[in-house]
Amino acid sequence: MKVLLIGGGGREHALALRIIKSKSCDKLFCLPGNTGTEKIAINISIDVNDFERIYEYISINQIELVVIGPEQPLVDGLADFLRNKSILVFGPNKLAAEIESDKSFAKNLMYKYGIPTAGYKVFTRIEYTEIKNYLEQQNFPIVIKASGLAAGKGVIICDNKSDAEKAIDEIVKQNIFDKAGDKIIIEEFMVGEEASIFAITDGTNFITLPAAQDHKRIGDNDTGKNTGGMGAYAPAQLITETLLNEISEKIISPTISALNAEGRKFIGCLYAGIMITDSGAKVVEFNCRFGDPETQVVLPLIDGDFLELLFSAAKENLKSNSVKYNDGVSVCVVTASNGYPDKFEKGFEIFGIENFVEENLILYHAGTLKKEDKIFTNGGRVLGVTSVVKKGNFQDAIKKAYEGVSKISYSNIYYRKDIGKKALKYSD
Ligand code: AMP
Ligand code: GLY
Repeated sequence: MKVLLIGGGGREHALALRIIKSKSCDKLFCLPGNTGTEKIAINISIDVNDFERIYEYISINQIELVVIGPEQPLVDGLADFLRNKSILVFGPNKLAAEIESDKSFAKNLMYKYGIPTAGYKVFTRIEYTEIKNYLEQQNFPIVIKASGLAAGKGVIICDNKSDAEKAIDEIVKQNIFDKAGDKIIIEEFMVGEEASIFAITDGTNFITLPAAQDHKRIGDNDTGKNTGGMGAYAPAQLITETLLNEISEKIISPTISALNAEGRKFIGCLYAGIMITDSGAKVVEFNCRFGDPETQVVLPLIDGDFLELLFSAAKENLKSNSVKYNDGVSVCVVTASNGYPDKFEKGFEIFGIENFVEENLILYHAGTLKKEDKIFTNGGRVLGVTSVVKKGNFQDAIKKAYEGVSKISYSNIYYRKDIGKKALKYSD
């Protein structure tokens, strides 16, 4: 079958590498793809907002399945548009994608269906006085969130009332989140360790992939600003089999049913950001897609025909037996441009890419650009250096990933030095 993959980050490079391994994949197209996918697929340069042209391309090239990686095209309704034209799509329709793009919808859904999450209250921007009064009665720390999409930056953790008032002023008066801040969620601060759980679902049945742990903060030991993710490892042993069963039963399954009951059937990857608290697993947030960089470590731990899994989900007939999990461990260190997640310079030549020849040390491209056979930095998160250790432990996987990092160089490279460290506490 011919497949079109939408997106151009490290996540899509990882998805592309898996999709082309499938014996049923005849040809893979990536829109726009990146320097990494260019070697294994056909990158196409149609504007992702031009749905009609995408459909035309799909028809001309007899593409049978479209896999949508990032949230924006999902939230913009690309899946709806293509499904209406009878194209098979892996990725939810717009209304189902609101589980990520409208946090107030997600919180209200969880409340209505008894899905465990932090206590909360939703306000609109015009309720400034009500918000101020509400803050008077709260305990701190407290979490203030923009309801809309804010590129992972829409969460402010406030240690005291004056921080909270400042955050509200920034959202309401200074409009730092623009329209994403039209609705504001004030929620209870949860204490615990986090994990990312991906559930592949056909809207009714689902399969969970090995749990991963992201490293969201820019600095070592989880300090500094939130980013899209500076590294990840899987499987996250924090998520024991018992916990995974609890998460499946109390969170994933009821959420899929709830979305269905609300007329928002979700077909795709439901990503649950989970916090393991003293009172059990609770949802921090839902996303409507695979996580990045988590996908870069989760996919190497899956054997079998991953494309078949995506295809069957898109056909609403999930074939979970097309894949099984191997007992490897995987660590991804993201190399970024110094300055990210704020301002950074780009356009520096990257050296050492040719050193990645081993199957178990993968270099995923994210913010890179090829010009006349040279490759340059072109984004905040530039590369994902991912080790896969089939017979070994996290110590080995971490060492291998950082050996990989040392093989590449470019001006203003920045990466965290402690990726995977949290996994070591579970080692024997
Ligand atoms: P989100 O974008 O919703 O995943 O939030 C980003 C990060 O903020 C999460 O990964 C958590 O570390 C933190 N966070 C969000 N909500 C809460 C909460 N209710 N309690 C504690 N930490 C939170
Ligand atoms: N790594 C976090 C995310 O994909 O949202």
